[in-house]
Amino acid sequence: MKVTQAEFIISAVGPDQYPDDALPEIALAGRSNVGKSSLINRMINRKNLARTSSQPGKTQCLNYYRINDLMYFVDFPGYGYAKVSKTQRQAWGKMIERYLLERDPLQLVLQVVDLRHPPSKDDIMMREWLIHYDIPTCVVMTKADKLPKSQWQKHMKVIRNDLQLTSSNPMVMFSSELGLGKDELWEVISRYALT
Ligand code: GTP
Ligand code: MG
Repeated sequence: MKVTQAEFIISAVGPDQYPDDALPEIALAGRSNVGKSSLINRMINRKNLARTSSQPGKTQCLNYYRINDLMYFVDFPGYGYAKVSKTQRQAWGKMIERYLLERDPLQLVLQVVDLRHPPSKDDIMMREWLIHYDIPTCVVMTKADKLPKSQWQKHMKVIRNDLQLTSSNPMVMFSSELGLGKDELWEVISRYALT
């Protein structure tokens, strides 16, 4: 897809701030620092539209980006940041769970993982939620540029097994650094958001 327009809309703290125009939503979930914001920027050809929070784990907001007046990317707060208090973790869980449960325009969750590492406990918990709520998911294995190509398949297999993915679950190898996987991911997104 050719992106001609991308704009930041809102850091929403709750449902009353979510947009009400019913455009399809593609959400991004993943560990703090895994590369969610970089992925968004790469997908829309912008260096810095999606920003990293200077205080990881502190912001409990859903960041909405509108793309071509056609869909939203919804950047979840990263999980698994060690310094987050239990109260903050619970607030995160409530907000995400409610979003997954109630948000009608949600079409697809991009579960972003680091190709170099086996999925974390939090990644597995997120996957279980997505299965539980029956939400279509595409696993995006990012930072591929940080691993020799000869090891990609081996690492992909571990991720596939640990997250209990079947052959019908889409998986995309990605690198925000190189732009690898961009066209393939747009194809997957278009399949879910634009039909
Ligand atoms: P939070 O917003 O804290 O949850 O983090 P995030 O998931 O949005 O991660 P972010 O996109 O800010 O990236 C974290 C760091 O990883 C940055 O220094 C990025 O430059 C780097 N990074 C992200 N994607 C890639 C990639 O594909 N390749 C390489 N080499 N570095 C990457
Ligand atoms: Mg981010």
